[in-house]
Amino acid sequence: MEKILIVGPASQILGVKIANELGIESLNTEFKTFPDGENYLRVNIEDETKIMGTEVIIVQSTGPSSSGNQNSRLFELFMMISTVKRMGAAKIIVIIPYLAYARQDKVFRPGECVFANVILSIIDSMRIDELYVCDVHAPKVLQDLICNKVVNIDTMKILAEYIKELGAKDIVVVSPDKGAVERSKAFAKYFGEDVPVDFFEKKRDVKTGDITMTGKLSLQGKDVVISDDIIATGGTMASAIKLSKESGANKVYAVASHALLLQNAKYRILSAGADEIIGTDSIDNEAAKVSLAKAIADYLK
Ligand code: R5P
Repeated sequence: MEKILIVGPASQILGVKIANELGIESLNTEFKTFPDGENYLRVNIEDETKIMGTEVIIVQSTGPSSSGNQNSRLFELFMMISTVKRMGAAKIIVIIPYLAYARQDKVFRPGECVFANVILSIIDSMRIDELYVCDVHAPKVLQDLICNKVVNIDTMKILAEYIKELGAKDIVVVSPDKGAVERSKAFAKYFGEDVPVDFFEKKRDVKTGDITMTGKLSLQGKDVVISDDIIATGGTMASAIKLSKESGANKVYAVASHALLLQNAKYRILSAGADEIIGTDSIDNEAAKVSLAKAIADYLK
């Protein structure tokens, strides 16, 4: 079956790279916001019959950026899926490198909506064939989807390879949160079998969102890799960096699959003592040191 890749507005670099890895044609989109705030999207195609009977791969991240917030990105995604279905695509594969609302994965306070599940069930109800996400915040939100295939792609191997190339040595992987220790252990394995993992204690006030972090670790002279799935405002990462430095860390690498870097996150992280902020191109910004293109393409080959 012929394959065509649609490059969503939020994944222009990653989308083209995946198409190149696969050796297939890519189409881009026109997108804008109308004066009343509604989204517009058009797949850049003149002959709609070109899509008939093909396998269409849609790549659209859903993180916030200056050209669109999460909601716009999701609406654009819905528009792309609906459009290629209308044009007669035989198979629809959706790649969402960063899944917005993934952190709303449970009820933290009475009366809340588990919105991650709502977003996923809307996408699922559009009768796509396969869904790929990357290092989603809580993989349990992927359960119960009815599409034929759902994959949560590992970002850690390629992030670890990048950090090793920087010459990091005597590494300790530090989790900024006890709940993320298993994730950090999986990450540490990519640096070597005996690479130690430790963690700080983080508490988040569910009403205000404020965090407090405590702990003192044995990090004297160590190169510390602080690993999280998401850097949003940078508060979590900056606290972990500060405590790592107070614990004697040598170099500190602030690593996240999805470095959103909102508000003054860059300043907070670097002024806390990080040597480098390292993310993937799930978010198209200056922290995207590592590309997910090959890892994603390998799943699609
Ligand atoms: C939370 O559970 C996530 O794994 C991240 O730690 C969190 O999203 C980071 O947010 P911020 O950068 O705003 O502290």
